[in-house]
Parts: sequence; C-alpha cells; structure tokens
Amino acid sequence: VFDLASFDDHEAVHVFDDVRSGLRAIIAVHSTHLGPAAGGCRYWQYADSEAAMVDALRLSRGMSYKNALAELPVGGGKAVILKRATYPKSDALLEAFGTMVDSLGGRYVTAEDVGITDADMSVVSRKTHFVSGLPVEEDAAGGNPGPFTAEGVFLGMRAAVRRRLGREGFKGVHVAIQGLGSVGKVLAEHLAADGAKLTVADIDERRAAKLAGELRATVASTEDILFTEADVLAPCALGAVLNEETIPKLNVEIVAGAANNQLRTPDDGQRLYDRGILYAPDYVVNAGGIINVMAEYLGDGDVDAVRKRIAKIEGRVENLLARAEAEGTPTNFVADQMAREAIGRG
Ligand code: NAI
Repeated sequence: VFDLASFDDHEAVHVFDDVRSGLRAIIAVHSTHLGPAAGGCRYWQYADSEAAMVDALRLSRGMSYKNALAELPVGGGKAVILKRATYPKSDALLEAFGTMVDSLGGRYVTAEDVGITDADMSVVSRKTHFVSGLPVEEDAAGGNPGPFTAEGVFLGMRAAVRRRLGREGFKGVHVAIQGLGSVGKVLAEHLAADGAKLTVADIDERRAAKLAGELRATVASTEDILFTEADVLAPCALGAVLNEETIPKLNVEIVAGAANNQLRTPDDGQRLYDRGILYAPDYVVNAGGIINVMAEYLGDGDVDAVRKRIAKIEGRVENLLARAEAEGTPTNFVADQMAREAIGRG
C-alpha cells in the first residue's frame, strides 16, 4: 500500500492531466540542492495511478543519489507518463508533456527513459528547453548513452574484482552477463577484449548466440544465467533481480552490472553482505550514461571530457568498497549515506 510518509524527502511532486491530448503524467522532484532536478521520462502502462506514483518517487530519489555520487552539478527528479490504450503516444501528448516540464521553470530537466526515444525528446523540445538526450552529431557528447554506461560498469567492476579477488584486470575472470542490449553487449565486448571468460544470456536467443560466436562466450538460458557459477554476475536487463528468492542461489563473489534498482529492497543488500557477496551499487557503476547526457545538456565538454569523468567511477567504487569494509556495512547502505551527505541530507 502506498505510504506517502516514506517518500517525504521529496521537494515536490507534480501531477498533470491534459484532457485534450490525454496526457497523464507525474513529475517528482526529489532534490535541487546541487542543481536542477535531472532524470528521464518513463512511458509505461502501470497497473494503477498509485503504482505510477510510487515508481516516480522511487526513481527520482534514485536519480538524486546517482547524480550526486557522479559529482554532477544537478539534482534528481523523474517523470512518468501513464500509457493509456485510449490515448496512444502522439506529438500532441509529447508536446503537452513539454509544456508541463516548461511550467516548472527549469527545476526539472527531462530526458529519455524506458518507452521514450530521442526522437520523442525532439518533439518535447518544441515546448521547452529543459530537455536533454536529443539526437546529436557523431563525436559530440550526448546521444546513445549505452556505450558510456558500459564503460563505467566495466571500470566499476574492475575495482570490485581488484578488491575481492585481488586481481588486476579480467584475464581469466569469469563474468556472467544477463541482458545483451545497448549496455550489456558493449560491456561484454570490453570484458572479452580484456581476457574475461564470459557466460551470457538474453531473451532474444539469436542476439545471445551471435554475440557468443563473436566473443567466444558460452550461452546460458535466461532461467540459469543468474545462478551461473562464476566470479562476477552482471545484471544488465531488469531491476529487482537480487531478492529473497534469488540471493540464496547465487554462485558468484561479486555482483556489478548496469540494471537500475537491482536490489528489490534495501534489505537485499544486507542479504548479499551476509552471504559474503560483494555488491557494487548499481547507481554508482551505471552513471556513465547520465554523465554523458548531462555534458550534452550543460554544454560542458566533448566526448574526451565525458570519458575522463566516467574514468572516475573506478576510484569512486574503490573508495566506497573500502569504506563499507571498514565500517562492516553493506555497500548499498554506504552508497546511500554518501549520496545523502552530498545532497545536504546526511
Ligand atoms: P536494452 O533494452 O537495450 O537491453 C536490455 C536487454 O536485456 C535486451 O536485449 C533484452 O532482450 C534483455 N532481457 C530482458 N529481459 C531479460 C531476461 N529476463 N534475461 C535475459 N535478458 C533479458 O537496455 P539497456 O539500455 O542495455 O539497459 C539495460 C539495463 O541498464 C536497464 O535496467 C537500464 O535501466 C539500465 N541502465 C541503462 C543505461 C543506459 O545508458 N542505457 C544507463 C543506466 C542504467
């Protein structure tokens, strides 16, 4: 049941209903302490409006934490558009969303997320300048964030491998990757190039078989991939894959991957800790995409500058893992605490 009190750390929540276009949307602003609340817009069919509200609130808090630890000069927010059968996605609906974003005067900056493309964002940008993630020219910062995210995940994973396995790089390290989409595929390529042994799975079996052929990886079924006996598990598909049911059956030393909200609940971080599995918090390692998108929005540097910022993820993960170990605390609690300190809520 929706409990408003558990989300009382948000600065504001805006609900919009545009009768003409059928737009029903929520914009949650978690924090503007470090700058405008930045975070994508999700277009999704929710079971009900309460589910949409919970998603918006949870995701916007997540963006605050992610952006703060990525040392970006922005806060955190998120928008959700409720997908409705009677009002399919249209230019009118996206323009109405742009008008709503604009009405917040820059307190919230939008971008694409699940169900929204860069072309959709171009339509949104007809009505507001507070938008990022637009199509860009080659070699400019911005555009498809997947490869940038993959780079950061690779570096964050490398820090975890160093700490837990005492190994420098991935030669002979076995990594199981769940999901070979725009992040997972590029992550697999980086790992293979560095000598990792790979087991991969995707619900798109042809995609998995093709990549396995190219990288000499083993293909696992989507049922088995999470429980592969390996050094590292990299969830790069869905959220909530680390939970009460799956954690007891994991066969790895480390979890480090791109998927957002890998832990179903914060207690699952404790469960991993109790099993002696080192968890590299998702929003710390998967910040490469937002670092890239924000460079585009803020006009702050080219691809080289973005890469330099992403390179810092490795040291950041090292520090976080060291602090968690020194404090004897699960890594997700330490990450949340560090983020809260950064946004003045320590
Ligand atoms: P994507 O949609 O390009 O790829 C996801 C892949 O996972 C698809 O190939 C899909 O077939 C596969 N998949 C779905 N369910 C699966 C299952 N049960 N078992 C195996 N494979 C499955 O998504 P993308 O962009 O690669 O993102 C992956 C994850 O990383 C998502 O959770 C996303 O929220 C997160 N993320 C992505 C960022 C980005 O820059 N694209 C940035 C930060 C987080």
